[in-house]
Order: sequence, then C-alpha cells, then structure tokens
Amino acid sequence: MQDINIEIGLKNLNKIGYLDFPIPDKLNVFEAIQNLKKEKNAIILAHYYQSNEIQDLADYIGDSLGLAQEAEKTTADIILFAGVHFMAETAKILNPTKKVLIPDLHAGCSLSDSCPAEVFKIFKDSYPDHKVISYINCSSDIKALSDVICTSSNAKAIVESFPEDQPLIFAPDKNLGAYINKVTGRNMLLWNGSCMVHEIFSYDKLLDLKKKHPNAKVIGHPECEEEILTLVDFIGSTTQLLNYSINNQANEFIVVTESGILHQMMISSPQKKFIPAPPNNSCACNDCPHMKRNTPNKIYNALMYEQPEIIMSKEMIQKAYLPIRKMLDISAGMKS
Ligand code: 13P
Ligand code: SF4
Repeated sequence: MQDINIEIGLKNLNKIGYLDFPIPDKLNVFEAIQNLKKEKNAIILAHYYQSNEIQDLADYIGDSLGLAQEAEKTTADIILFAGVHFMAETAKILNPTKKVLIPDLHAGCSLSDSCPAEVFKIFKDSYPDHKVISYINCSSDIKALSDVICTSSNAKAIVESFPEDQPLIFAPDKNLGAYINKVTGRNMLLWNGSCMVHEIFSYDKLLDLKKKHPNAKVIGHPECEEEILTLVDFIGSTTQLLNYSINNQANEFIVVTESGILHQMMISSPQKKFIPAPPNNSCACNDCPHMKRNTPNKIYNALMYEQPEIIMSKEMIQKAYLPIRKMLDISAGMKS
C-alpha cells in the first residue's frame, strides 16, 4: 500500500476538493465508516440526492429543511454532511461549535452559483423598500443579505408571513419563485437563477411517459420549469414527494426530480413502481453532478483525517444565522 503524505494531501485540498488518499487494501469502507462514527462521536447527515450507498450509511436522510433542523439539534461532536456546500455551511451556521466536514469541498450547486453576492447586493440596493426572501440554496453571503431564508417545503408559509402589501424579492430560484407567486397570488421580484438539474426535464418525453403510464401519479419538485409543472399532479419538496408516494393509493409514480429520491421511495413502498422522469439528453434519469461528487471513499477519508472542514468567520456565522433562525421559527409553527 502507498504511504500517505498527509501534508501534501492537505496542501492540495482546496485545489482538488477532497483527500485523495488510497483506501487501505482489504478495508471494508462501509464498516470502517461505521467504526469511525462511533470512535469520533460523528453523525452522517445525507440529502436524498446522495447515492444509494451513501444514504444507507447515513444517520439521517432528509430534505434541506429537515437536514438544517437535524444539524441544529445534534449533540455529536462531528457532523459529516453528505450533501452540497451550502448545506454543510448551513449546518455550521446553526451549530458553530461542532466540526462540520464535507466529503468534497467542490460539491457546489448551480443554483447557488447563479447568484453572486456582489451583483445581488447591487440589485437588492436598487429596491430599498423590498424585503428579501432567499431560498436556502445560496451562499452564506447571500443569506447574510436576506431578511429570511426558505426551503421548498416552507416557501409558501414564509412568503405568507409577510403582509400582502410588503414588496418582496425572491432569490435565487426563478422557478420556485414563479410557482410561489402563482400559489400565493403575490408578485415577488424574482432573481434570474435556476437549478441545472431541474431545468433539463423534457416536456415531450414526460408527456410520452404519461401516455404510456396513464394510471401513474406524476410528482415533481417546484424547482422545475412552469411548463413541466403543468404536467404534474403533486408538487413538493423531496420529503413531501416521498410522503405523498407513501400515502397515495396509486401503484405507479413518475418522479420529476433528481433520481436519488427513488431509493427511499422504493424502500418505503416496495410494492409500488417508481419511474424517473427523463431529462432532455440521452440519459434515462436525472442526476445532480454536484451531489454525486460525494463517494464512500471520500467520506472515509474525511472522517479519518477530519478534513475538508467547513470554516467560517464568526461575523459571517452571526449575519447568516438571523435569517435562518427566522425561517426555523416560522417553520416550527407550520403544520407538516
Ligand atoms: P429539497 O431537498 O429541500 O426539496 O431541495 C432540493 C434540492 O435541490 C436540494 O439541492
Ligand atoms: Fe443545486 Fe440543483 Fe444540485 Fe440541488 S439539484 S444541489 S439545486 S444543482
């Protein structure tokens, strides 16, 4: 087995995003991860868009809201966040005394990237009478510029917590913003951002799929474009889609979101059939390349060497905390 030069690994961390150390021969990575978790009092929080094997390793699997709530209340010393960067950052903001690890620092998000803070600040400053609601899929700099954060499971309640005559900016997802405008009758100003994964579903292919499966319920995420959502029977966050698939009587579901969620749907309802909606390319299902950067080997190295770690200044944590706190407080009063 190759010698591991920890110093070189750490030096290259920002460049390659993860510890590229070879896994010892004959090591069962899955067992080793479970042992490291116990030894270090660590937990793994995983988003539904992680690979099946990572979901199977996790202590908690959830949508963005559930993961934030879980990160805030954990008493573990280490949070290994199997998700993307903004999610791990949110965990650090909510529980700053914990060590928050992410398997790959470069697990980003096209939606978060579509809203650079310097440009957004100029936009926001040109509407001084507007309050800012930001979707959690954004950087901590954007959170710090916002009045309140929302996720796809509480966006409607967050918007409705403002008086009807309060002018609002919604960032960064124009598709979720347009959907919430529609269901609340508001006219929020929308930042022109979007998720690369939810924007490439094909209307024609989905229509064909519906014709082939006339009894299937079509369930989709509100990050999808408006045209796609016209074909959908139920719209919700990943957790809401999972719950719908469990509680609805249908035996077939066409699922219009990232394909990782199908794993929990199949575990919860093994007798039902789940069909991933096809994207506008040659793939059969839709994967988020950022979410899928995480692997069990990267998780093993991250837990073993406690790197890459999310590091944030106290000042940034304090500024970004307030709008997230506001969201969690409003969510606590919501019916699930
Ligand atoms: P939710 O898990 O909150 O539904 O968000 C989906 C998503 O795109 C996360 O990046
Ligand atoms: Fe970002 Fe979209 Fe991937 Fe979610 S699915 S992490 S919104 S790019």
